Amino acid sequence: MGVNIPSRILTNADLEKMVETSDEWITTRTGIRERRIADYGLSASQLGIPAAMEAVEQAGLNPADVDLIVCATSTPEKMFPSTSCLIQKGIGAGECGSFDLLAACSGFIYATMVADQFIRAGSAHNVLVVASEIYSQIINWKDRDTCVLFGDGAAAVVYSSSSGPGGIVDSRLHSDGSFAEFLTAGGVSSRNPESAGALGNGGYFLEMKGNQTFKVAVKKMTEVSMELLEGNGYGPDDLDMVIPHQANIRIINAVGKNLGIGEEKMFVNLDKYGNTSAASIPIAMYEAARDGRIKPGDLVLMVAFGGGLTWGATLIRW
Ligand code: UT7
Repeated sequence: MGVNIPSRILTNADLEKMVETSDEWITTRTGIRERRIADYGLSASQLGIPAAMEAVEQAGLNPADVDLIVCATSTPEKMFPSTSCLIQKGIGAGECGSFDLLAACSGFIYATMVADQFIRAGSAHNVLVVASEIYSQIINWKDRDTCVLFGDGAAAVVYSSSSGPGGIVDSRLHSDGSFAEFLTAGGVSSRNPESAGALGNGGYFLEMKGNQTFKVAVKKMTEVSMELLEGNGYGPDDLDMVIPHQANIRIINAVGKNLGIGEEKMFVNLDKYGNTSAASIPIAMYEAARDGRIKPGDLVLMVAFGGGLTWGATLIRW
């Protein structure tokens, strides 16, 4: 695994000077105390490349050994070329396959299942998954409903075929486009054809119906966790750690309560980074492993939800 998190910190106190909000409101409603912001102009590939390099090195591989690169991002460098192609060049990989995958905050879970399936099918041996997000560029910094929630960051994981113990047990993916309007970012796109018009008509920046999203998130994260556990003959008591998408402490606590899992088994680092979308779970995985919170042999559940709406879960025997 590897991470790359910008060094610039934006605290709740800083936000108090930008919009009508308070540290007390942000902390009690979300659990977030600070978030990281990338330097203006830094791109998703530039943020992702150091994380990818660290992951390849930690895996004991050379960049040329990577068979496939999947970049999970909803803030891509450009519409094309894909961010993954630029990462392929940036790390000096060979002419491997590469593509971007867009499932917003569920992107890492989606990319993990893609990697798992490529490996199980024998189509790849070493898959590099990079999650790189620069939400500071799609946030409306005048909108207090959303600007306090998100941060920038990147993390990467190499999945390799192995006959050894442990690994990805199974995953589940879901989506429901009837909730599409709950969480959107139009950008410059086929729906918002040019930037001036897109900005004038609204819809360019991230927009969210926070309250409705919150309720669906808690319900679907609980459901998919149970579906995945039961589908593999496990129950919540078998879990050593849950690494949930880091969106809101109240969502994490509600999912833990629904599953009957104590707070000590629900990994939380959103106080430091806010919601880094697809990067939130791999950054948390990295820190949980580094800090000894997850150890070889542990059963770890990762569960996410995001724009789409999308949601999904992965079970890993560490
Ligand atoms: O990765 C997926 C991303 N999606 C999410 O994370 C969405 C999940 N949703 C949430 O996390 C929560 O719904 C929020 C944190 C976004 C909002 O919390 P809430 O408890 O649902 O608050 P609310 O939207 O119902 O707003 C409560 C009040 C409102 O004022 P009134 O109408 O009661 O007078 C808001 O205007 O809080 C106000 N408010 C704020 N006040 C101070 C909203 N944002 C702020 C703010 N500072 N930043």
